[in-house]
Amino acid sequence: MGKGIGFGKVILFNEHFVVYGLPAIASAIGAKTTAVVERRPGSGVEINDERPETKGYKAEKADQQKESLDLMLRLMNIDIRSNGFRVTLAGDLLAASGVGASAASCAAIARAFSEELGLKYSDEKVNEVAYEGEKGYHGTPSGIDNTAATYGGLIWYRREGSSHHMERMKLKKPVEIVMGNTGLVADTKLVVGAVREQKEKAPEKYARIFNDAEKLVQDARKQLEGFHLEEAGYYMNENHTLLQQIGVSCPELDLLVDLARNNGALGAKLTGTGRGGYMVALSPGMDLQERVANAIEKKGFQALRTTIGV
Ligand code: MEV
Repeated sequence: MGKGIGFGKVILFNEHFVVYGLPAIASAIGAKTTAVVERRPGSGVEINDERPETKGYKAEKADQQKESLDLMLRLMNIDIRSNGFRVTLAGDLLAASGVGASAASCAAIARAFSEELGLKYSDEKVNEVAYEGEKGYHGTPSGIDNTAATYGGLIWYRREGSSHHMERMKLKKPVEIVMGNTGLVADTKLVVGAVREQKEKAPEKYARIFNDAEKLVQDARKQLEGFHLEEAGYYMNENHTLLQQIGVSCPELDLLVDLARNNGALGAKLTGTGRGGYMVALSPGMDLQERVANAIEKKGFQALRTTIGV
């Protein structure tokens, strides 16, 4: 039996822009996905998905999950015609849009196969396999999700052609955040494709927005590393505005963002794909975190209390 884990993540700055080579910042969150690979008689891979989920997520992603697994098995050179495996996914990370669920499962699966087959994969190799798996869900992934899922921690990430640049960032101490779940499942491939289409239709408008996003993330990094949380929150708000301008927010996300801000969050924005999935609010201190999470729950949404920069 082989076991592996993948970290859930939150993108703090520049999802979508990162697909086009702009830098972005992401952090692991407390929750993880685990994978266990066992041999079974016969051939092929059977997936036993026991992860908790946002209603409808697993059914909606079933085809993409299969495509992702096929891509990973091919890259790992695993012969499933003469070998049978069962992959069991579990852990405390909700299978939902916006928390890196697909990437966490890919990293966990790569690690579990490596252990079962004695492949001795380095983190770098796990990340390469998870990136391949992400193609089943994203089409053209930037690689930020699988990198966060593989390495954990707080990262500065930039796609560079077929490669990438990752730097670890440090916070003076971990900071409480709240993630509010719209309960809506988003299709990353579709939303990334829609941004590409709009970008091609209005190149000048998008060039201006992308310029702003590039400058913003550099400033945000300085504020985060200097532990100037009010300023970092301000940049999260600004980032949300840019994400609205490229059309990836939705009424439920905007409502959660407003709720968080009105209840004292230093900043709030959509996180990940958008058009569903999660909102992230910067809410340092247990009291503020509780206030923001309660306000979200009172409106009937799920709230995840977690930390960044661990
Ligand atoms: C999805 O978590 C993040 C996106 O930027 C897509 C990607 O980076 O591959 C929307």
